[in-house]
Amino acid sequence: MSLLTARNVVSGYGKTEILHGVDLDVGEEEIVTIVGPNGAGKSTVMKVAYGLISCWEGTITIGSTDITDHRADEVAQLGMCYVPQRENVFPTLTVRENLEMGAYIEDTPAANDYQHVWDRFPILEERKHQKAGTMSGGQRQMLALSSALMTDPDLLLVDEPSAGLAPDLVEDMFDRLVEIREETNTAILMVEQNARQALQVSDRGYVLDMGENRFEDSGSELLNRDEVAELYLGGVWHRRRCVSSIAAVPTHRYLRR
Ligand SMILES: Nc1ncnc2c1ncn2[C@@H]1O[C@H](COP(=O)(O)OP(=O)(O)OP(=O)(O)O)[C@@H](O)[C@H]1O
Ligand SMILES: [Mg+2]
Repeated sequence: MSLLTARNVVSGYGKTEILHGVDLDVGEEEIVTIVGPNGAGKSTVMKVAYGLISCWEGTITIGSTDITDHRADEVAQLGMCYVPQRENVFPTLTVRENLEMGAYIEDTPAANDYQHVWDRFPILEERKHQKAGTMSGGQRQMLALSSALMTDPDLLLVDEPSAGLAPDLVEDMFDRLVEIREETNTAILMVEQNARQALQVSDRGYVLDMGENRFEDSGSELLNRDEVAELYLGGVWHRRRCVSSIAAVPTHRYLRR
């Protein structure tokens, strides 16, 4: 069953229309990724779904509840939470205080149990008295995600979870998202620049371009479609290293140039 449904959503900023009739579905316990070029409207889709900007046309529902005109605080009460692309922690609060802020909406024993956060991201326990603003970009991403999860959401919207992470930590972040889904049954909708890696862990994906749906398929099918790979994933040859003439050139030849 679809948890989040957006149909023919038109939205934007001021008088500028950015989304020109976007459709989106996220099923229960699904991982869904939106990819696309810079400025395509990916973050805008998240903002309109979460009620941060208004939906000019179309409908958005969570389960059977119409949330088209809901504010973000009302949407949050329905089990959806959102980690924005930027400014996603309170920089002057400590790690522990950020988590407390995340938990304010839920007054359950689970929401006040920090052990699951420390288990998932041990660095956060080590730094629990450190101000969030002094943490590295990657550590802030871990904190932002953990704070959002304190509400025990049914659906997590996360905008660029791998942003600011060192390359060797990017894959780790995607593994954690899969782990979160497995452990908590939380459905995840993410926007990602690391499109290939994100689609590899996704049940389904959408390619958004210029505010419109371009492609929609399972994560693996999108990775396999030449048109998608060529236009949006940096080329087909990445996927077919073994047959690429570029890949056949020994690495040291590049290094010498
Ligand atoms: N607050 C805003 N006010 C006015 N225009 C905005 C605002 N936020 C975004 N836009 C514009 O809306 C368009 C889509 O922006 P959006 O942030 O949704 O793109 P995106 O696909 O998330 O891009 P990126 O990959 O760079 O994060 C862009 O042209 C952008 O300049
Ligand atoms: Mg964005």
